[in-house]
Amino acid sequence: MTIEEFIKKIPKTELHLHIEGTFEPELMFEIAKRNNKIINYSSVEELKKAYHFNNLQEFLDIYYEGANVLITEQDFYDLTWAYLTKVYSQNIVHVEIFFDPQTHTDRGIAFETVINGIYKALEDSQQEYGITFKLIMSFLRHLDEASAFKTLEEALPYKDWISGVGLDSSEVGNPPSKFERVFAKALEEGFITVAHAGEEGPAEYIWEALDLLKVTRIDHGNRCLDDENLVQKLVDLQIPLTLCPLSNLELKVVQDLKEHPLPKMMEKNLLVTINSDDPAYFGGYMNENYLETAKALQLSKAEIATLAKNSFTASWLTDQEKEEYI
Ligand code: ADE
Ligand code: ZN
Repeated sequence: MTIEEFIKKIPKTELHLHIEGTFEPELMFEIAKRNNKIINYSSVEELKKAYHFNNLQEFLDIYYEGANVLITEQDFYDLTWAYLTKVYSQNIVHVEIFFDPQTHTDRGIAFETVINGIYKALEDSQQEYGITFKLIMSFLRHLDEASAFKTLEEALPYKDWISGVGLDSSEVGNPPSKFERVFAKALEEGFITVAHAGEEGPAEYIWEALDLLKVTRIDHGNRCLDDENLVQKLVDLQIPLTLCPLSNLELKVVQDLKEHPLPKMMEKNLLVTINSDDPAYFGGYMNENYLETAKALQLSKAEIATLAKNSFTASWLTDQEKEEYI
């Protein structure tokens, strides 16, 4: 069996995925047309040509612009359904996905429109494809604390639908400490907490995410390797890191996949997983992330199997549910 066949065959979970980052140009143009919205690019090809980024912020500017054409519940449903159909073909059996409500509520779309569309698609895919799921509401860290508090309030009626809260967007200059009080309230309300940390920001932000936001999983976390004490803590507590290799390459977090820190992290017994982050923008869904990483780093089938197993260990499935896969 080739590595490609092996990757396709093994069951996997996706733990770091922004639903807005799955917005393929073809669907974007289709939805823009039905909503009478103008896209600043003349065609799908022109838009795709703009997908070259030197850093996180250059990507975020285009990502938020793309999301502007999403207006109705049906739009959010179609976006989510397209992603789930794709991952079904890749043998992803469980997903824990982010949505960014402020990207939409800030431009006048109701919170309930966003969550209803996303949640209905997730329910339908559980019915039709058997894909189980958790939903994570992510706060935009470039916005202020008051906006995050308002968003948390809006989420409370949907507590049964939302398992956790996260923190994403422009990292440098927006440390986790900015949201300590919001996360304290989220924890009080029973949400699990995660945060993007150490993607472009320093190891110190990972410490803050752990100590102040009480996260039980770190999104990215690449920069933990700068701090031996931090690595030791992450290993001791087996705090999962949701790595995103193709994202790291496209956003110049690494200059070459061959230099990706994943092997070093595995060597140190960090609990690492592979994920796709924003696949419509970074040139690959889960299996492409596994395959490109495996090829660049010459991973063995046993190492690939470990990464897939880690994805279940790191998930929020119950121990009993995990047993089915690991
Ligand atoms: N929002 C979507 N993708 C992101 C990433 N990789 N880092 C921070 N915020 C994001
Ligand atoms: Zn992300």
